[in-house]
Amino acid sequence: MASLVGAWAASHGPLLVRNWHEVPADQKDRITAGFRDLGRRLSAARPDVLIEVSPDHWANFFLDNLPAVCFGVGEEHEGPPEPFLKAFPHRELRGHPGLAMHVARSALDAGFEPSISHRLKLDHGFCIPLWRMGLERLPRIVPMIVNSIEPPLPSLRRCIEWGSLLKKAIETYPEPLRVGVLATGGLSHSIGERTMGDIDEPFDRECIRLFSEGAPAELAAFLEMRLPLTGNGAHEVRNWAVAHGAAGCRGFRLVDYLPVPAVIVGCAFAAWELPQAA
Ligand SMILES: [Fe+2]
Repeated sequence: MASLVGAWAASHGPLLVRNWHEVPADQKDRITAGFRDLGRRLSAARPDVLIEVSPDHWANFFLDNLPAVCFGVGEEHEGPPEPFLKAFPHRELRGHPGLAMHVARSALDAGFEPSISHRLKLDHGFCIPLWRMGLERLPRIVPMIVNSIEPPLPSLRRCIEWGSLLKKAIETYPEPLRVGVLATGGLSHSIGERTMGDIDEPFDRECIRLFSEGAPAELAAFLEMRLPLTGNGAHEVRNWAVAHGAAGCRGFRLVDYLPVPAVIVGCAFAAWELPQAA
């Protein structure tokens, strides 16, 4: 049987690449260290496959077809379409159709209704964290796109339930795969709205406290209440909620948090401590 060997989360944002030259040196060092720390943890867990949870930033879907949740079930996925990611070292990323289809079937059996795609483009939300983690060997990727962009959005409670479902699906997959979950996005940021550029540090710190303590009901209640009052980009914390559910809501270890005005994102890096798989 497959096993869940780790769960991690990191912020993303196009300006982490496009505006990197404007980030102060001390913040560059901390961001780099945060990604590299997660990269070391991920490499130590030796996942064969990574279920990567991120929103789609209009690279695949638009208003005419906008799934709440979509799994990439293809043999391979396209690399990032954004011109500023031309230097990303992979133009194609290998998928794992067997596990991806098993997760989709397990979800449907459990009353969840994801969509699937045989050919996804993995945009900056997927690729910047993978790139900045400095992984020597890229695991196969099963993308899980969670709509965090265009309302109506999946509820926070449902996102946590999705995480539990991922864990169960992994543990019923018949091959002895090592599987990790990597969530990307958040924390607070504001894009294309009146508050563009604002970073809501009190929101970020309360998020981190609740994720650190576990407490899924309190976490979901806080996020449902507070998300409408902060920048629209903070909705990407839904992906973190999926990873939290996958990790059994056991509380994560914060690697680092820093608000970074040059990239207009509250940048956080975290790892859930799971019982060590052999
Ligand atoms: Fe994003």
